[in-house]
Amino acid sequence: MSDEAHIPVLLEEALGFLDIERPGLYLDCTFGLGGHSLEILKRNPRTEVIGFDIDESALLEAESQLRPFADRIRLFHSDFRYIPDLKIDLSALKGVLFDLGMSSFQLDNPQRGFSFQKEGPLDMRMDLRNKITAERIIDKYSEPKLAELFRELGELKQATRLARRIATLRKAAPITTTTALCRIVEEVCAWRPQKGKIHPAAKVFQALRIEVNQELAGLPGFLERLAAAAPPGTRFVAISFHSLEDRAVKRTFLSLAAQDNGGPSFRILTRKPVMASESELLRNSRARSAKLRAGERT
Ligand SMILES: C[S@@+](CC[C@H](N)C(=O)[O-])C[C@H]1O[C@@H](n2cnc3c(N)ncnc32)[C@H](O)[C@@H]1O
Repeated sequence: MSDEAHIPVLLEEALGFLDIERPGLYLDCTFGLGGHSLEILKRNPRTEVIGFDIDESALLEAESQLRPFADRIRLFHSDFRYIPDLKIDLSALKGVLFDLGMSSFQLDNPQRGFSFQKEGPLDMRMDLRNKITAERIIDKYSEPKLAELFRELGELKQATRLARRIATLRKAAPITTTTALCRIVEEVCAWRPQKGKIHPAAKVFQALRIEVNQELAGLPGFLERLAAAAPPGTRFVAISFHSLEDRAVKRTFLSLAAQDNGGPSFRILTRKPVMASESELLRNSRARSAKLRAGERT
């Protein structure tokens, strides 16, 4: 694990918008190693946290740190999109946090296949109960479907060319490792390291990761359901790491705030997304692309 692994991103900003001075229940929908939740529990002894993560190994890794708070925390190895089905009593709910995407804990383990810089299997599953891996997508998706994936979810210019090359190469031998795929991307995109330029494999790996974990599926619908079920005063905080995710959060907040059907209403607390300060960036480079948006059920 890197030194940055335990540094929660936009911590003070997230806790500020969640308004954790208020006693009550906080849902951490993407618990990871519990960096944000631990601070909620430490700073206000009259809070409870329920955490969710699809990655069981993250929940196990966090366990020892959580022991002092065992009576105020419950964890579920579950996709947050199932929260409405878990029939949790939300009457004391005060805040809901999403710190979306993958964690450094996942990225740093080569066996998970998230990093194009580390040799490992092309896996990328956050939830190991899932059947679909990145290797399977590279092997089974049609050439047009691969091109669409790289274009839409990776915003890669050379999407068509890369899909064609993969379709040719996989006929001869399966592409099974992170580094093998990275080499193909570098060749197709004629990659030469240049200051300020994003490595094209970062885009391809982002696209595959989003597809493997269906990261964009159902987020707006879920936010709408939870906002409708939450008591007035519940704060919603979402931290995203790429533009597609941020756009989904922004649009959902706008649509919730525009609803005028006599039902629950919603107020946006961040006109523009909040980004990390210079001092946070010095401590944690991963915060560079983070964008925080917050809203309140009123
Ligand atoms: C950026 S990390 C969270 C880090 C955490 N806030 C911390 O400070 O340790 C995102 C976590 O969300 C989890 N995750 C992603 N999508 C999820 C989903 N749909 N349901 C539950 N957990 C999810 C990932 O497995 C990962 O552990």
